[in-house]
Amino acid sequence: MKIVHVASELFPYMKTGGLADAVGALAASLADSGHQVAAFLPGYRAALEHRDAAGAERILRLKIEMGNEYLSGEVRSFSPRPNLRVYLICREEYFDRRMPYGNGERDFEDNADRFIFFCKAVVESLRIGDFGADIVHCHDWQAALLPVLLRETERRHGVTLALKTMFTIHNIAYQGVFPAKTFFRTNLPDELNQIDGIEYYSQINLMKGGILFADRVTTVSPRYAREIQTPEFGCGLDGVVQTRADDLVGLLNGVDTAVWNPATDALLPARYSAQNMAGKKLCRAELLKRCGLASEFKGPIFGVVARLAAQKGIDFVVANRDFFLGHDVRLVVLGAGERRLEDDVQALAREAGGRVYFSPRLDEAMSHLIEAGADYFIMPSVFEPCGLNQMYSQVYGTLPIVSRVGGLADTVVDVDSDPANGTGLMCEPNAESLRDALQRALRLFADPRRYEAAQQRGMARDFSWKVAAGAYERLYLESL
Ligand code: ADP
Ligand code: GLC
Repeated sequence: MKIVHVASELFPYMKTGGLADAVGALAASLADSGHQVAAFLPGYRAALEHRDAAGAERILRLKIEMGNEYLSGEVRSFSPRPNLRVYLICREEYFDRRMPYGNGERDFEDNADRFIFFCKAVVESLRIGDFGADIVHCHDWQAALLPVLLRETERRHGVTLALKTMFTIHNIAYQGVFPAKTFFRTNLPDELNQIDGIEYYSQINLMKGGILFADRVTTVSPRYAREIQTPEFGCGLDGVVQTRADDLVGLLNGVDTAVWNPATDALLPARYSAQNMAGKKLCRAELLKRCGLASEFKGPIFGVVARLAAQKGIDFVVANRDFFLGHDVRLVVLGAGERRLEDDVQALAREAGGRVYFSPRLDEAMSHLIEAGADYFIMPSVFEPCGLNQMYSQVYGTLPIVSRVGGLADTVVDVDSDPANGTGLMCEPNAESLRDALQRALRLFADPRRYEAAQQRGMARDFSWKVAAGAYERLYLESL
């Protein structure tokens, strides 16, 4: 099949979270199975500076209609592996920036223009580049206008640019909602600015376009597929999602074992496997050292790696201040994001000097070291479409402590409720329930036989992309 992926993040060229990992691994995995895969990404500065892009060629020049003006752009392309081509949609004014969506505190003011332009540029590339795509697979709100634009362009020009379109919801909490006046920049006919189009409470909602107009809609776990049809998790789009219930399926993400595998991980000071865990001890020692924590410490180390957003339940961790101050444990947090949460974690680290370490940065190597060196990984999300770190944790022999929502509930088994199959600990998304799970973690850690059995079960699980990519492949074939 000729498969085109369109997303605002793609590992290793631009990443702020799991979207990059998921799209990067899916595209690579499909390419390795012999499909012809193209991946479109905005030409951010980091992507253009990546060594893979060194020999990128300019293959197309674009003139894109945006409201009452035409804006120029160009497409650069390179191939990082057989059967995979990456296409960067370049326009300096929009994408020559360090971060993709905003400057920490606030979103960029021109995000509507930037991603409308991006989607239109992809459609134009498919048209003049004559791709002959079987599947165009769009991810999250930044690419959600594409199914709408594709159908409209096909109608206007009497051509077929994609046999089928797919839209994947990685996170329904981010929808791309913009003022009504933005609609004219899409140049879509007015009937699409209505309730059965992308109109949304007197504004426009780009994600709504993807949900309504793609041939198939997917999300990243079976449980989240059910959750987003309810007001509690649907973030106002639950009614819209319900209209597509028959075409909606939840497919779990996988782990890219070329990047996340303790037996081969070059970012670790030592490697290890389920059969030989000695390297994990070295990683633990290195983690303590890197955090300036005393290396002779023998008790449990709790790790957190997350975007600091309300979604991730960081508030529940901070609210358990007494637990971290009152027990002989260590807590290592790596995360950047909302100022309020950074301040809260910083305050906890100051108060618990020598026991709690906080690094408010994006740090790929450190994220691997935490997964390898910690004994527990805490992820008590309020909601979690899939979540990757709880899977990485199991693969790295680090027991996840997660809330019973979305993909977390689909990928972790609680060791107290199911002693024969448990691989972690589960709680409800609130501080009290997390406290209970942390206490249970202490008891489990004090019982090495039980702890190690859970660890081995986690490491034996197969979260590889082979499973996930196979499910997408079947879905593509079925829809074609
Ligand atoms: P989300 O996409 O909602 O952020 P996921 O669990 O799906 O959550 O994916 C998060 C990804 O981002 C993981 O690969 C995680 O290791 C990475 N990550 C999050 N914060 C950081 C950070 N501060 N430094 C490095 N990697 C990070
Ligand atoms: C989103 C979700 C996360 C998911 C990731 C990749 O960022 O928040 O749960 O794992 O997308 O699908």
